[in-house]
Amino acid sequence: MEKTGKYKRILVTSALTYANGDTHLGHIAGSILPADMYVRYCRLAGYDVIYVCGSDEYGTAIEMSAIKEGITPKEIVDKYHEANKLAYEQLGMSFDIYSRTSTDTHKKTAQDFFTNLYDKDLLYEKSEKQLYSEKEQRFLADRFVVGTCPVCGYEVARGDECENCGSTLSPLELKNPRSTITGDTPVVKESTHFYFPLAKYQDELDKWISSKPDWKPNVVNYCKGWFKTGLQDRAITRDLSWGVPLPLEDHEGKVIYVWFEAPIGYISITKELFASKGNEDLWKDYWCSNDTRLVHFLGKDNIIFHAMFFPAMLMAHGGIVLADNVPANEFMNLEGTKQSKSKGHAIYVKDVIGRFNPDSIRYAIASNMPENKDTDFYWSDLQAKNNNELGAILGNFVNRTFVFAEKYFEGRVPPLGELHEIDKNLLESVKSYPSRIASYYENYKFKDAVSESMNLVREANKYFNDTEPWKAVKEDKERCGTIINICLQLCRTFAVIFDPILPFSSEKLLRMLALPDEKLTWQGACDLKLEAGHTLGKPEILFKKIEDTEIEK
Ligand code: 2FM
Ligand code: ZN
Repeated sequence: MEKTGKYKRILVTSALTYANGDTHLGHIAGSILPADMYVRYCRLAGYDVIYVCGSDEYGTAIEMSAIKEGITPKEIVDKYHEANKLAYEQLGMSFDIYSRTSTDTHKKTAQDFFTNLYDKDLLYEKSEKQLYSEKEQRFLADRFVVGTCPVCGYEVARGDECENCGSTLSPLELKNPRSTITGDTPVVKESTHFYFPLAKYQDELDKWISSKPDWKPNVVNYCKGWFKTGLQDRAITRDLSWGVPLPLEDHEGKVIYVWFEAPIGYISITKELFASKGNEDLWKDYWCSNDTRLVHFLGKDNIIFHAMFFPAMLMAHGGIVLADNVPANEFMNLEGTKQSKSKGHAIYVKDVIGRFNPDSIRYAIASNMPENKDTDFYWSDLQAKNNNELGAILGNFVNRTFVFAEKYFEGRVPPLGELHEIDKNLLESVKSYPSRIASYYENYKFKDAVSESMNLVREANKYFNDTEPWKAVKEDKERCGTIINICLQLCRTFAVIFDPILPFSSEKLLRMLALPDEKLTWQGACDLKLEAGHTLGKPEILFKKIEDTEIEK
């Protein structure tokens, strides 16, 4: 745990979700679940940690959806902000705050940031050619235009990015461009925009990233690839009405580009968090100090923004901490194809939440997290993980233990008698798990953390089988009591160790152990805290079997 120990505080962010549609399992796997698991672990380990997230509410993605649904952008973001906030809550995501970028706090923070760079003469204004739709009387920024990707030939690449090959594009690079809304062929017209001198920061960024030996290779390689091509200055304003207006006179009709203001949302949302707690200035302890470990969780399509563009903005601004790590995930595809909101190919959280145990969904995703390469979500895998691992290993152990406690010890914790070799060996081995699993969390190895947590339960099951309490209860009830005492203590250990992965089950376990207000700590996970004679709560089923018919649906 010494790595995190060099910092006083930890500030965790998940990429802000566009509030233009329902959140899906691709978001969960990419940026939300790993962050939540990490934060839950950090809290148990006793770190001062905050987790901020929210809705990304500006940009052409929002305006496009509004036009498609025939409502205003404001109506769109209000609808999906609430929907996504609820979906994340239902999956047990433990944000300290889930806010949004359409607040006044965000507007002011983003404008002040822009002004800071503007006043230092770091931005420059340039007139350049843009696509303009005569029919719609508007410039076709970013997603308002589609055309053929100049890199891979994909015919419906968006003006800001090709979803097929991942290239970052500008509308003028598209071949055969047309308006996304009307299909109209645009004309070229001049417009003046502010530019951020990203190219100037390439050396500093390269040096900074080179000083991070613990970054994931996929992230570093991605950045190095960009350095090789050479970073280009980026326009940070747009001719749109939906967005944060420029804080300058004589610039009506122009807003700050969403990818400039959205990451500033992490700061403005932190401000809101502390303002709501009555301490307006506390956000500075997190953002304006090098004692903070800032960690951005995101999917690979957001690497350029979090590992280069935003850090360069912060370098230009000064006085704000840079990320310690950007542990980006690859994509979790759906049975072979990328999950995409715009293409409707995705599993939406709202559609699975009422049907399956949220912990089973978390577990299926966490154990197959796309940490180093794309992975696939298969419905059959959710069923197998639920039935064969959660139910058959964890659920089974807990169930067997409680059945014994109920049946032979009146639902109380039996006394811990003399320890046999097998007990001592087990307890010794169990003690070695928390630090091993901690080191996986601290190094963003979530799949390993999950499998090692499950190995602990496998060991517990082996102990149960080898000590044969069903025989002991007939031959030596005291000995049986010792075994069940140890198994109940293990259930408490599981409530701690599995809290990052299965928070609802962890709570259930504590209820069953009648320890609902227990202050859990990672360091105390293996303490034998349950006292002899303690009355247990009512046993509950942890994981219901998922039948074939439910999966077929
Ligand atoms: O790609 C996306 O979904 C963006 N909404 C992520 C924004 S992250 C941040 F910088 F706000
Ligand atoms: Zn392409």
